[in-house]
Amino acid sequence: MEHKQLDQFPKDFLWGSASAAYQVEGAWNEAGKGISVWDEFVRIPGKTFKGTNGDVAVDHYHRYKEDVALMKEQGLKAYRFSVAWTRIFPNGRGEINQAGLQFYINLVDELIKNQIEPVLTLYHWDLPQVLQDEYQGWESRKIVEDFTNYATVLFEAFRGKVKYWVSLNEQNIFISHGYLMASHPPAVSDPKRMYQANHYANLANASVIKKFHEMGMPGGIGPSFAYGPNYALDSDPKNVLAAEDSEDLNAHFWMDVYLFGKYPIAAMKMLNEQGLAPTIEVGDEELLAAGKPDFLGINYYQTNTVVFNPLDGVGLGKMNTTGEKGSTEESGLPGVFKRVENPFVERTNWDWEIDPEGLRIGLRRITSRYRIPVLITENGLGEYDKLTDDKEIHDDYRIDYLNRHVHAIREAITDGVDVLGYCTWSYTDLLSWLNGYQKRYGFVYVEQDEKQDGSLNRYKKDSFYWYQKIIQENGSNV
Ligand code: BG6
Repeated sequence: MEHKQLDQFPKDFLWGSASAAYQVEGAWNEAGKGISVWDEFVRIPGKTFKGTNGDVAVDHYHRYKEDVALMKEQGLKAYRFSVAWTRIFPNGRGEINQAGLQFYINLVDELIKNQIEPVLTLYHWDLPQVLQDEYQGWESRKIVEDFTNYATVLFEAFRGKVKYWVSLNEQNIFISHGYLMASHPPAVSDPKRMYQANHYANLANASVIKKFHEMGMPGGIGPSFAYGPNYALDSDPKNVLAAEDSEDLNAHFWMDVYLFGKYPIAAMKMLNEQGLAPTIEVGDEELLAAGKPDFLGINYYQTNTVVFNPLDGVGLGKMNTTGEKGSTEESGLPGVFKRVENPFVERTNWDWEIDPEGLRIGLRRITSRYRIPVLITENGLGEYDKLTDDKEIHDDYRIDYLNRHVHAIREAITDGVDVLGYCTWSYTDLLSWLNGYQKRYGFVYVEQDEKQDGSLNRYKKDSFYWYQKIIQENGSNV
């Protein structure tokens, strides 16, 4: 619907930006830090773009004060970051590594000192390798206790200081890439194992949320879900059903569990028939129901347009991790859906569809189905950027992308969606897990490249100043 006038953003709207430990910190083996599954995975030849790793990343571990000063200058209201489990517990559990915890205490204090609201993500994919070796990490129920124990240490350390907590970042991504596409650790390709690992991740998620509430923690907690709303290519009922199926299997399969404590009916029925459904034990459903989030974190990048895919149709295809436009392979689930290009939108050099309206649609769907406040925990454009001889970066394409998404959020707010804040991805440039350093997302350019011999100097992009103005005006001119 078109509104005659748009509502204003709420006065306390959290204009933020985000990062993740492995992608920015570096210092991979400093101050007692243990090894994570990513520290190992990146060393396997052929796994990441040109073999890039996060050993140094953008050296945020040593330069966090400089980065927070830039945030302050920009006027940022919130900064979302993740804690590396291996800094707190090098062996996943046991004795706390005080030096590791101290880094985050310093970071949080620095943010608060500069009036920036910390948004703390407990888990952004860097599982302690010890737990992978000992009991196969997410494939064991033991993870629930260890994850809750780790989270409890952070709850105690940051009670009252951190008000916004993210439990798991993109469970749907780290589980599907880790156990089906084999493109993330532990590089398994087995749907049965995937659904079981996913079930344990659901339990772990519910368990930390339950713990947070039992401890009477001030503030709120929720998972960040990677939501790509599904569209049918056209009104052919077969394609409309394919889109419903994709929404069930790719979205409700996680969000329903977070918010209703139950798996969606049609998707579960199909998995049962195929012998792929997870084993659910007595007590699991109670735990899932008891771990209800206070808000839902949404990471939004693109929508997913589908058509029906026959039983002998296309299966999983390779992603574009090189930045060669058009190199994404066809991908689908035989008998259910197949992804196709949406003819109405443009694509980035990594073939990600640019669809601001899709964010409004996604926010609307969440609001109708779950009636829960949403914190947009990621949204941004990964592109090549060019540092000019004058050390400037004219990223007008990023400004255009972000501006259109902010406008879509304002429209969603006008529709009645409760949006708490907007964290762009990302604050500084950083390591893109599979795509190296050349795929840049930040407001702040970092001189770092695939050879990892960059100066690590920071330069403000044009988009830095654009967001500064948005924040000053509280989005009133978007
Ligand atoms: C999300 C992740 O999937 O998208 C981030 O939470 C990630 O960690 C971001 O970097 C962008 O994806 P990519 O593959 O372009 O780095």
